[in-house]
Amino acid sequence: MRLALRHGGVAKYRMGPERHFLISDPVLIGQVLHHDVVRYYRGKYHELLKPAFGEGLLTANGDEWRRQRQFLQPAFSKQRIASWLDIVVEGTEARMAAWSARPRSSPIGMAGEMAGLIQDINAKILFGRNLPYRANAAMLEAVNAINDSLLRQVKRAMIGDGWLNRLPLADVRRFRGAVSLLHQTVDHLIEHQRAQEENGGGLCALLTRAAIEASPEALHPRDQLITLFLSGHETTAVALAWIFYFLTEHPDWAERLSDEAVTVLADRPPAVEDLPRLSQTRRAVDESLRLRPPVYGIGRRARIEHTLGTWRIPAESPVLISPYVMHHHPDYWENPDRFDPDRFVPEQARSRPSFSYFPFGGGPHTCLGRHLAMMELLTIVALVARAFRLSAPKGRRVALQPWLTLRPKPEVLVSVARRMNISIKSSIHRQRPGHGAEIPHI
Ligand code: HEM
Repeated sequence: MRLALRHGGVAKYRMGPERHFLISDPVLIGQVLHHDVVRYYRGKYHELLKPAFGEGLLTANGDEWRRQRQFLQPAFSKQRIASWLDIVVEGTEARMAAWSARPRSSPIGMAGEMAGLIQDINAKILFGRNLPYRANAAMLEAVNAINDSLLRQVKRAMIGDGWLNRLPLADVRRFRGAVSLLHQTVDHLIEHQRAQEENGGGLCALLTRAAIEASPEALHPRDQLITLFLSGHETTAVALAWIFYFLTEHPDWAERLSDEAVTVLADRPPAVEDLPRLSQTRRAVDESLRLRPPVYGIGRRARIEHTLGTWRIPAESPVLISPYVMHHHPDYWENPDRFDPDRFVPEQARSRPSFSYFPFGGGPHTCLGRHLAMMELLTIVALVARAFRLSAPKGRRVALQPWLTLRPKPEVLVSVARRMNISIKSSIHRQRPGHGAEIPHI
């Protein structure tokens, strides 16, 4: 942040053997993200993701990336995302029922709890509703070990040009074990889905069928599934942990969200048409993603030498764009550190430049799962705010831990007390209005 404020739109800094460029001007950020596939590519740091993510959308470049994106995009249509709403509701209600049974004196660790919830939900979305899978300590630990080591590997590659990662380091050994467990689990889930007569609508069946018709070698359905499993997991779980943190810090907003959920939903589960009507919830989610964007840095490498603004960017230079820096930039945000969801009333939001706020990136690489993530965030937050009064232990400070995502440290502890007027009854067996309809726009 200091670098951006001191040096303006383009700041050059040295890290290890290379000169990096931090871009913090919305117009220039737009240029980088939009010219992305022509002038920039994902370089050697993204290569480090390949042992875990494989040859999927998050690691591909150029024509290979374009082919994969065109192949995957229809799988995330608004209609299909809407058809997954019941999975989100069912998973959240099961968790909330378990919370209700806890003694009030025992707070919930929200980052851990949301990691389990999102893994359960996303596994069903990817591998089918009939999946015999429940997030378990070993898989949560494996995903954690992968993310943990990947950041260490990227840092080591920045200072030592990669050779450090070839040493027999403890985190790299843990990484290999975790990748092997993840791959075995995903292979098992794919096999299980194939063996099912009724596949339950998982993306896995869809992608495998489509890839067989197109070109399985070029589209790597297994790697795509692993990519989606990993990229949709910690990002969404961390976002939820921060939202609940802010709601305990701002009980007035927690009350507003609870009232809104009761007004919009009464005592029924959300239907897709309800989501755009949860406007205050949406604002609180947007504000939380502003203050704590889970993906706080987006990295690229210049393909060719070129000029950006008044700066010459040599070929192969690493270029960094930071949603965190832009979301706190005083040129675009008044009192940038204050939690104030009303910044996102439409008139105010429209008056800001596009790349002052971009938690899901932008341009051709914009997050493939953003509508799914937003559906999950709105649904989970509305259900929890409607059912529970939330509070946090007094005087506990939660800081930022800039890891692969922007994690809270220490854990976000939240005590929940049932609101008397709302019972948590699982609605999943009832026919819901709008089930399978298109999400209007969220
Ligand atoms: C709150 C949750 C999420 C946040 C904040 C987030 C953020 C981002 C950002 C900033 C990018 C752009 C990266 C770049 O330009 O290099 C991205 C890309 C991506 N995201 Fe997400 N994401 C979230 C959830 C998800 C979910 C749920 C999925 C899928 C299940 C997903 C799948 C992807 C994929 C596949 C890409 C690569 C797109 C491409 O390169 O074409 N994300 N995400």
